[in-house]
Amino acid sequence: MKFTVNSFAAAKENGEKITMLTAYDYTTAKIEDESGIDSILVGDSLGMVMLGYEDTLAVTVDDMIHHAKAVRRGAKNALVVVDMPFMSYQTSVYDAVKNAGRIIKETGADAVKLEGGVKFREHIRAIVDASIPVMGHIGMTPQSVNAFGGFKVQGKTYERASKVLADAKAVEDAGAFAVVLECVPDKLSAYITEQLNIPTIGIGAGGKCDGQVLVYQDALAMYGDFTPKFAKTFADVGAAMRGGIEGYIKEVKSSAFPSAEHTFKIDDEVLNKIKGCGK
Ligand code: KIV
Repeated sequence: MKFTVNSFAAAKENGEKITMLTAYDYTTAKIEDESGIDSILVGDSLGMVMLGYEDTLAVTVDDMIHHAKAVRRGAKNALVVVDMPFMSYQTSVYDAVKNAGRIIKETGADAVKLEGGVKFREHIRAIVDASIPVMGHIGMTPQSVNAFGGFKVQGKTYERASKVLADAKAVEDAGAFAVVLECVPDKLSAYITEQLNIPTIGIGAGGKCDGQVLVYQDALAMYGDFTPKFAKTFADVGAAMRGGIEGYIKEVKSSAFPSAEHTFKIDDEVLNKIKGCGK
């Protein structure tokens, strides 16, 4: 069954947790979709885990579209959300609508996500008015890494916690269908989850959110450069890949691969004729 923005609302209403993982390519999206994930995020984290940048700032709208098209082809039932990258919406409300429209038209995705609360209320409202569902993203917003002075938990002091709460309310008032809370203390995100009518999707925000999202390379131990405290390893795919690749190298070097079962045959008669022609 196709998961839609209405399914997000129904899940909150019925107290059912929403599951979301990132994907950036066809094969991974297909595996996640077939495994029954509710929603797939084509995150701008692709800058780090797919493209090898140190942060998400260099990612372009074209990068997002390229990866989101592949994910869309692999995801039949999951709701596909695509991140609006740095400077694709911050510059003006007009740019926000134009780039959100381009992402949806060119990829066939279901929704866009953008970072920020109170400051981007008008941007969110204008995109929603253009009939494009928006997921908000507040708390530790990676596109503001330089302004925050690093990837830091947000909302520990009274001032910061009030800002996170105000951002959450602004995102809801602007018409977003859900909001990601990233690196927010668990009791604060539990309170925000109670206060909002739209679902909260947590990443490093505790167990009381209406759903959870993780970067799949973090969940499957594939990205060794940095593992956030909130990420749990659900399967050591990284180790399985390394083992498989080492096995391949060993067997090619020793000529154990390919063996007869992986080899195509030709009739000796045909071969002899070819050899005869070659003389
Ligand atoms: O880009 C991303 O993967 C994200 C998640 C961390 C929520 O925004």
